[in-house]
Order: sequence, then C-alpha cells, then structure tokens
Amino acid sequence: MDWGLANRMHRMFSPATHNTVMLAVDHGYFMGPTHRLENAGATVAPLLPYADALALTRGMLRHTVPPTAQTPIVLRVSGGATILQDDLSHEAVTTSMTDAMRLNVCAVALSVFIGAPHEHESLVHLGDLVNDGEQAGMPVMAITAVGKELEKRDARYLALACRVSAEMGAHIVKTYFCEGFSKVVEGCPVPIVVAGGPKLDSDRAALELARHAIDEGAHGIDMGRNIWQSDHPVPMLKALRAIVHDKATVNEAMDILAAEKGPEVAAPRARRPQPS
Ligand code: R5P
Repeated sequence: MDWGLANRMHRMFSPATHNTVMLAVDHGYFMGPTHRLENAGATVAPLLPYADALALTRGMLRHTVPPTAQTPIVLRVSGGATILQDDLSHEAVTTSMTDAMRLNVCAVALSVFIGAPHEHESLVHLGDLVNDGEQAGMPVMAITAVGKELEKRDARYLALACRVSAEMGAHIVKTYFCEGFSKVVEGCPVPIVVAGGPKLDSDRAALELARHAIDEGAHGIDMGRNIWQSDHPVPMLKALRAIVHDKATVNEAMDILAAEKGPEVAAPRARRPQPS
C-alpha cells in the first residue's frame, strides 16, 4: 500500500486498536431530510469531536462542516436514485476524484448493489473508482447496499457482497451485522465496518449490535440513525467508542451512557389540592 493511501487509512483506523468509529450522515443523498438530520450541521457539531471519521456527501460537507474540522472525511461519491424510485440500485459516481482530493478527504465511498437490477454497473463503477483511488492514494469504501430489501441482510448474501467488493479492490467494506457475521468477515480480506440500519428499539440494542460485530471481527462501525436519532446522541457515541476501542461490555457501555446522560430529571408531580 502506497504511503498516501496507508496514511489516510491510519487516520481513520486507530493505530492502537485498528478499529474506527465512523459517524454516518450521508442519508440525505437518497432519503432527503431524514428525521433528526434536517439541520445536519446542528446534529453533527456536538458529535464531531467523538467521531474517528465523518461520512457524508460533498454538498453537506461544504455547507455544514467548518473547514477548521480535523475529523477525517469519508466522502460519499455515488448517487443518482432516491427513495421515490422502486429500484435504488440505479446509481453512478457523482463526485470526481479531483473534487475528493480538493476536499482533502480520507476516503471515498460508493454503494454496490449485489443481486439488484444495476448490479453490473455498480461493480464496474467500483472497479473504476478503485483505479482512480489507487492513482490518487485514496482509499475506497464499498457499501453493500440492499435498497429497500432489508431482509436481504443474511450471512450468505453479505459474505458474497463483501467478498466481491474486496475482489474489485475496495480497501474498506461497509456492511450490515447479521447472524453468522464471522463468516462474512472470514471471506473478506479487507477491514469491515458495520452500519446500524434503521433505529433499533433501544440504545442497548444498538450497543449490543456493535459489541457482537466487534467480537465477530468487524474493525468498527459506520453508524448513523442509532446515534443521532437516539435521545442522547453524544452519550451514545461515547458509549459506542468504549465498545469499539476499549473492549467495554454492553453493561459497561450502558453505565457510560447513563453517566454521560446525567441524572434524569423527574417530571414534576401533579400537586394535590390542599385543604383550605
Ligand atoms: C445509507 O444511507 C448509508 O450508507 C448510511 O451511511 C448507512 O446505512 C449507515 O447509517 P445507519 O447506521 O443509519 O444505517
């Protein structure tokens, strides 16, 4: 791996733990103003100091993140379909490597849609992006997207999608956690980070997901909704960091979450009418 590419990788993945906590806020590129991401700048600002990398599009980077930010950027460079379409796989590379370099980002990311109508194009786009990335010293992260078919997220499918992405030359693969996740990791020779997916029932469930993913070989998370749709985004991110970097158990992470939240303020009781 050339020095520039290796340096960018090491800025995102801790040299001490080899893991990363990426904060994903790229949802708007196909979902529009997602709940709690309507004002992305306001959502991101308090979280930024606790993220090892921030994943977003060039539009949101330029308009919502101050250029004084030191956090490595993972730039989403694919797009071209929105949730108004049934088929979300009709994507292309929408941001050039030249613009990624100009933005001084640490990685570029695009979705691959294995088994979807535009599987072929998405894989060719990945190959082309890796060609450009190798030239520029820019890591490429492949995202194994499932579109609206969330039920696709099983080990057999994800193992295939991750392996194909690595074979195309991706330097990092982002995928989903699933039962039998270690099989997905086993077949993929590059670091895997896991997305959170739609908001889970509880903060604990998201922490459990992260704990299981790390235990089964993930090199970190690239999580969005389960952080910024939580009622306590910063404490949640700190608790996730403890899992990813400090080997915290779920109970220990829950303790961190509780401590960071501070004392819950009890709702004022209704006053009983006093006898006159
Ligand atoms: C899709 O919109 C993006 O790839 C997200 O970055 C990815 O799904 C991670 O975000 P979340 O944890 O909300 O699924």
